[in-house]
Amino acid sequence: MKCSWKLVLLLICLCLAVQYTAIRSIHDFFPRPCQDFRQCQKCPEIDKSWKSSDNNYTPTNHNTVSTRKHIHLFSQTRSGSSFAGQLFNQHPDIFYMYEPLYHAQQTFCNYSKCLWKPLDRAVQGVYRDLLFNLYTCDLNFLENYIQPEPRDHLTASFFRQTSSHALCSPPVCQVENKKIIEMQPNEDWCRKKCRLLNLTLASMACQSRSHVSIKTVRIPQVSDLRLLTEDPRLDLRIIHLVRDPRAILASRITAFPDQFIAWKIWNATDRQPHYVDLGQITKTCQDMEYSVDIGLKKPAWLHRRYLLVRYEDLALNPEAKAKEIYKFLDLDIDNKVLTWISQNTNATSSAKSKYSTSRDSKTTTESWRLHLGFDIVKTVQKLCNNTLDLLGYKTVQSEEELRNIRNSLVEPRTFS
Ligand SMILES: *[C@@H]1O[C@H](CO)[C@@H](O)[C@H](O)[C@H]1NC(C)=O
Ligand SMILES: *[C@@H]1O[C@H](CO)[C@@H](O)[C@H](O)[C@H]1NC(C)=O
Ligand SMILES: *[C@@H]1O[C@H](CO)[C@@H](O)[C@H](O)[C@H]1NC(C)=O
Ligand SMILES: *[C@@H]1O[C@H](CO)[C@@H](O)[C@H](O)[C@H]1NC(C)=O
Ligand SMILES: *[C@@H]1O[C@H](CO)[C@@H](O)[C@H](O)[C@H]1NC(C)=O
Repeated sequence: MKCSWKLVLLLICLCLAVQYTAIRSIHDFFPRPCQDFRQCQKCPEIDKSWKSSDNNYTPTNHNTVSTRKHIHLFSQTRSGSSFAGQLFNQHPDIFYMYEPLYHAQQTFCNYSKCLWKPLDRAVQGVYRDLLFNLYTCDLNFLENYIQPEPRDHLTASFFRQTSSHALCSPPVCQVENKKIIEMQPNEDWCRKKCRLLNLTLASMACQSRSHVSIKTVRIPQVSDLRLLTEDPRLDLRIIHLVRDPRAILASRITAFPDQFIAWKIWNATDRQPHYVDLGQITKTCQDMEYSVDIGLKKPAWLHRRYLLVRYEDLALNPEAKAKEIYKFLDLDIDNKVLTWISQNTNATSSAKSKYSTSRDSKTTTESWRLHLGFDIVKTVQKLCNNTLDLLGYKTVQSEEELRNIRNSLVEPRTFS
């Protein structure tokens, strides 16, 4: 009996040894992938031959450090990030992408639920790999996630392609009519003309610009970006866009009516239904609070990489705020950005969609105060008291105070 046990043990050891050797040799045979960039010291240098001649971007010959700069617009759903994203989308040196993480998220869960789902660590890793690859202009990396799967690197399903100027203009989208190129890419027009996106070509277009900017509302906390800020191959600057959580909630109720039926009932009756889910807005506030807390403490990994922007300040004073953001980025603000601001922050504009970015920003910032029941406001003030306090959003004690829009609830603050 004893003897046969030893034999079994010996066999197991032998088996493990064989497997180990096999895995080792497979591992050595294939070059290391670049996904896990902590381990990857010798990634092939990005091909710089794709530069276009019409900008003065001159790469140095460092092995690992790219001269490209990376901008992360870090925000939460319904915080005005589409609007803020335009400040980068309009700049001719910036390659801007609108929520590319959407595709990865869709792979792991269905739309309506996943936006509010806590992120598990595996998905965090996927997001980080994807962001890294997009920041280094490898848009083909998205092919793993786009549904239906792209063929020959072509896809008609790139999420909100029309929100990215670079993906709606030459060389990515070929247009004969030069006049159209000069205009803003009208979303309908882009949808028709540029539908089939060549991801290889898009990657090349990205390479030709000095800055890559990505907007996300799918990363919960700024600490989730830490490894990217520490990566020597990236030069990441984070613009943290926050907004009054009461306004965020009002906007979500309006934008996603089927998911907020309980809230609509609450709003209409001023009585809280027992089945209403308070978890989501609580989490939104906690994520905001933790991130702002970390950002303002200025840990070494965020040194000169973090800027806190309140949406309300941006909306009230878009030009001054935009200039401040560009100063932080060490980038000259382009006239195209300023033109976009002056054309899109005045009342006259008519087009309005769920993600509309043009508005009379001065009168809309606090209009939530007319559209949210006082009982809901009181509850959110209780759930989010620390966040409101931290960001300088005043609480109200009566319905009268809430509706009196002449007295702003946004305290003047500078964060630095
Ligand atoms: C998403 O929802 C559809 C239909 O509701 C279902 O068939 C599919 O399996 C879901 N996918 C995931 C990843 O949960
Ligand atoms: C996509 O663009 C690349 C780069 O210009 C080109 O070589 C390739 O042929 C294009 N693919 C298709 C299917 O047109
Ligand atoms: C926007 O409004 C300001 C102030 O009222 C005005 O000076 C500016 O010309 C307007 N811009 C446009 C594009 O209408
Ligand atoms: C809340 O109810 C009021 C009427 O009491 C309505 O005007 C407003 O639009 C509602 N707000 C939302 C977000 O549905
Ligand atoms: C927020 O509420 C909690 C619990 O009621 C309390 O302990 C905390 O001091 C409040 N914070 C602020 C800033 O008022």
